[in-house]
Amino acid sequence: MKTLYLSDRQEDILKAAEILQNDGIAAIPTETVYGLAGNALKGSCVKKIFEAKGRPSDNPLIVHISDISQWAPLVKAIPENAMALAEKYWPGPLTMILPKSDIIPDEICGGLDTVAVRMPRSETARAIINACGFPLAAPSANTSGKPSPTTAQHVKADLDGRVNAIVDGGECSVGIESTVISLAGDVPRLLRPGGITPQMLNEVLGETEIDDAVYNKLADGAVAASPGMKYKHYSPEAKVIIIKGSFEGYKGYIEQNAGQGDVALCFEEEVNALPLKCITYGRRDDPSSQAKHIFDALRQVDKEKAKTVFARFPEKEGIGLAVFNRLVRAAGFNIIEL
Ligand code: TXA
Ligand code: MG
Repeated sequence: MKTLYLSDRQEDILKAAEILQNDGIAAIPTETVYGLAGNALKGSCVKKIFEAKGRPSDNPLIVHISDISQWAPLVKAIPENAMALAEKYWPGPLTMILPKSDIIPDEICGGLDTVAVRMPRSETARAIINACGFPLAAPSANTSGKPSPTTAQHVKADLDGRVNAIVDGGECSVGIESTVISLAGDVPRLLRPGGITPQMLNEVLGETEIDDAVYNKLADGAVAASPGMKYKHYSPEAKVIIIKGSFEGYKGYIEQNAGQGDVALCFEEEVNALPLKCITYGRRDDPSSQAKHIFDALRQVDKEKAKTVFARFPEKEGIGLAVFNRLVRAAGFNIIEL
C-alpha cells in the first residue's frame, strides 16, 4: 500500500480520522512514543495493526481515549483508586488495566480478560480520537522488537508501505512509553515503568507493588503479567553491554576492551573524554533528557553498524527507572559491574 504523509494541522487531522473511520490504520504522535492506531472496537482493524507490526497476537494493545466518559463502556467497573489516578494524571503517560467489558474485541487482549486504557496528553492524538468518534487501539508504531519510534522518521523507517498514513507531530516530549499499572488484582501492580513514576503513583495509591519483570529477566517458562515483557525488546543489532560504575571506571573499561567498530553509548558531557565513536542519550544527571533520547540513540547505534556498544548505567530514580528498564532489555540483561 502507499503510505500517505500528513502534518498535525487541522485539515490533516481530519484526513487521518477519515482513514481510521474507513477501517484503515495510521501512525499518530503521542507525548510518549508514536502509536499505530486503528478502531479499537473492530477486531478486523485491530488485526491489521498486528500484521503491520509483525506483533505476536498474544501481546495485547492499549486502547486510547480522548475523554474520561469513553472509559466506562470499555471496562466492567472503574474502582475508586483508578478514578483518582485518572483525575490526577490524565491526560498523560499512564495506562491502567482493568477487567474488560464485552465491547472490547478479543483481538485486543491477546486472550486476557482485562483491557489497558490510556488518555494521551498529546493534543494531536486526542484531536484525532475526537474526530474519529471511537477509541483507538495503538501499540508503539515500530516493527515488533525494534526501538519504539519518537519521530515520524523513525516510523517511516519501519512501516513505510505497511500503514495507510503517518501523521507527523514532531519529536515526542517524553520519549519513552507510558507507565502501565494493573488495577485488576487485589493490590495495584506496576507492570512497566514510564513517565508517571512509582513515587507519583504512591501519592495517590499509598502503595504499589512493582512487578519483578520491571527489574529482572523473566525466568524461562514463567507467565508474564504483561506479555510485552517477555519478548526481546528495543534491541539494536549490535551487542549491548551496560557498564555499571564511575565514569573513570567506564572509560578505563573501554580503553581496555573496545575494538574497531565499537561504540560508546554515553551522556552528552562525556563525548570528548572517550577514545571511540560516541552516541549520547541525554545529560548525565537528567533522567528526563535520557528518556527523551534513549530510543533515538538505539536507532543510531544500528545506523553505525556498531559491533559492540558499551552503555553507561542510568540512575534508577524517577523516570530513570523506565530508562533503566528499556536499556537492560536492549542489552539482554548484560550488565558488567566494575
Ligand atoms: O506510551 C504508550 O503506552 C504507547 C503509546 C502509543 O500510547 N503505546 C505502547 O503500546 O507502548 P505497546 O503495545 O507497545 O505496549 C503495551 C504494553 C505491552 O507490554 C503489553 O503487553 C501491555 O502494555 N498490555 C496491554 N494490555 C495489557 C493487559 N490487558 N494486561 C497486561 N499487559 C497489557
Ligand atoms: Mg511497544
